[in-house]
Amino acid sequence: MRTFAKVLAVTAVAAIAVTGCGRSNTTTGGGAAPTSAPAVSDVPASGASGASDTSGTSGASGASGASGASGASGASGASGSSEPSGGSGAAAFPADALIGVALPQKTSENWVLAENLFKTDLAAAGFKADVQFANGGVSEQQNQITAMVTKGAKVIVVGAIDGSQLGSQLKAAKDSGAIVIAYDRLLKNTAAVDYYIAYDNFKVGVLQGKALLEGMAKKKPKGPYNIELFAGSPDDANAQVFFDGAMSILKPKIDDGTLKVTSGQKDFQQVVTQGWKAENAQKRMDALLTAHYTSAVLDGVLSPNDTLARAIITSVKAAGKPVPVVTGQDSEVESVKSIMAGEQYSTINKDTRNLVKDTITMLTTLQKGGKPDINDPKSYNNGVKVVPAHLLPPLIVTKENAKEAYANDPTLSPLTK
Ligand code: BGC
Repeated sequence: MRTFAKVLAVTAVAAIAVTGCGRSNTTTGGGAAPTSAPAVSDVPASGASGASDTSGTSGASGASGASGASGASGASGASGSSEPSGGSGAAAFPADALIGVALPQKTSENWVLAENLFKTDLAAAGFKADVQFANGGVSEQQNQITAMVTKGAKVIVVGAIDGSQLGSQLKAAKDSGAIVIAYDRLLKNTAAVDYYIAYDNFKVGVLQGKALLEGMAKKKPKGPYNIELFAGSPDDANAQVFFDGAMSILKPKIDDGTLKVTSGQKDFQQVVTQGWKAENAQKRMDALLTAHYTSAVLDGVLSPNDTLARAIITSVKAAGKPVPVVTGQDSEVESVKSIMAGEQYSTINKDTRNLVKDTITMLTTLQKGGKPDINDPKSYNNGVKVVPAHLLPPLIVTKENAKEAYANDPTLSPLTK
């Protein structure tokens, strides 16, 4: 985080990571927030979710299942194997139980918002909360989860740095009788996870791919368009999912010549951004510009989130080039400002308030011995089991719909006036 902060005077994330401020002090729920997860239930998470809702881009077909989200139907049935006993009546654990929340590094604003919301809202729901960041990396997160088990946490909510590196700590959690919930990022290759709660991340990628095409078409009605691709950190299970979602839209257009990836770097491993670090994206963009865009015009860049989008824009501006169409995700304050100023083209609204609110609803249901609201019981195969999922719908935001999109967000709404 320190190095991050150094490079990122340009981003709000560093500021927020340091100051702990941000838009988190808007409490959850607050009434009017759109409720969760309509109509995602019958969408195969790896497949063309929402592929039809904008423009003629389509083509989101096969998209493969690297998301870990595909196939695996047979699993059926509702919620996972380690259900807390019984229906209503028999509480599964005390109403004031300790809940552990293990968050990753502060690589984007949403995690800082989640920290604050979990602290206040778990307490408001009557639970004791142990909310931890693991800025030091995977082993720190492993130790934090172990400590939560030792302290007797009844549920452990995990936003993993690397979802396949926590197997033995999660097994110990299950052995102690705790319930394990994967938050935002799937926990991979382990049986020791009961539920997954997240925005539909494949759909995030689909929306980013569509926004890129749409934004470029607005500036220049016909291709071919020169683009570059960026993905998130390869240890984050979501990074591949976002990329696959976007490529389900972009690949057919690369194949038919509408899009040209000038650098030729099209594979996930070639375009990843270690640690979701802005400095890494900025460096790669600098190098791409030097090597491939002395005369060619860069029309668009697929960026998986806002922090990286701003780093890419910084690089392009420093090179004295016109700002291309750049996608994003997270509705970070500085990116919403940039969108309103006509620089960054799009972001995604995955309102953290709703994700935390639905997680706490899941916890209170589990506490009472009930079954949580699962709207995708079969798509999230983590390599070992199919993890019952509660998915929320992401929303694409551009300058055109920002006002409506953030109407009930007291921090972002004033930026759209
Ligand atoms: C989250 C994104 C975030 C990224 C970096 C992902 O797992 O889903 O919202 O931008 O992590 O923090």
